[in-house]
Amino acid sequence: MLLHEHLPHGLRQKLRDEGMVLREECMGSHHEQLDLSLRLEHHPPGQPSALVAYLDYSLYDGVPSIQMIRCLRPRRGWATVLVEHLQRMNPNCGIRWGHLVSPEAVAWHASLSFETTDSVHKADFERLADLEKEKAAASAVICPGGVFDPTAWSPELAEKQLRLEDEIDGLRWTLRDRQPTFKRLRLPEEINSRPDKTAEANPAPHHRKKSSP
Ligand SMILES: CC(C)(COP(=O)(O)OP(=O)(O)OC[C@H]1O[C@@H](n2cnc3c(N)ncnc32)[C@H](O)[C@@H]1OP(=O)(O)O)[C@@H](O)C(=O)NCCC(=O)NCCS
Repeated sequence: MLLHEHLPHGLRQKLRDEGMVLREECMGSHHEQLDLSLRLEHHPPGQPSALVAYLDYSLYDGVPSIQMIRCLRPRRGWATVLVEHLQRMNPNCGIRWGHLVSPEAVAWHASLSFETTDSVHKADFERLADLEKEKAAASAVICPGGVFDPTAWSPELAEKQLRLEDEIDGLRWTLRDRQPTFKRLRLPEEINSRPDKTAEANPAPHHRKKSSP
């Protein structure tokens, strides 16, 4: 699948100028997991095309996990283009990075810019915390100082406790593998649109202009 219509204008233009095509392939699927590959190819006019970089990843429960990233024409920003695209396509979750063992992969990851962002589950985590407080308050009425007080007990209070427990259990189950915030890769179009004095003084390396492929 060709992805160019999903790209920001500047990147689409850069790819066109450099004769690059970005596309995605589905390599397989099993047990609700999709194995996908983002592939960047150089298509020079009248010559055979060549693979420039690829990012193999799996998608499970909506979360992308990098399996392998490789650039065959290094230090031109192409690996960064791929991973930024992955984040752009999955705006509501953090990327799982796997083991970046090679020294160049570690240096590359260190060059990327991240920010902590609220996840779509943040409000549910807050609701869970409120319910737990409410449940603790109800328990404190029935068991002041940790001792059951039969005179404080009432059917209404017992019903309230049951309702709170039900809702708490439901939310805990829904949120079991979720986080209230996640670490998101900052995208160049966002970095450029923010008046950030430090970024101006010390531009992120992967947003420098790259030359020929
Ligand atoms: C890691 C890898 C994917 C990076 O690809 P790339 O296209 O060269 O990366 P980029 O051009 O986007 O690099 C962006 C920045 O990362 C840093 N960086 C990348 N490679 C680096 C290296 N070898 N040494 C130091 N810094 C490096 C630099 O800051 C670079 O910006 P600059 O070139 O303007 O200085 C590539 O080196 C590779 O394919 N390595 C072999 C496979 C591998 O180890 N994969 C990871 C295991 S999953």
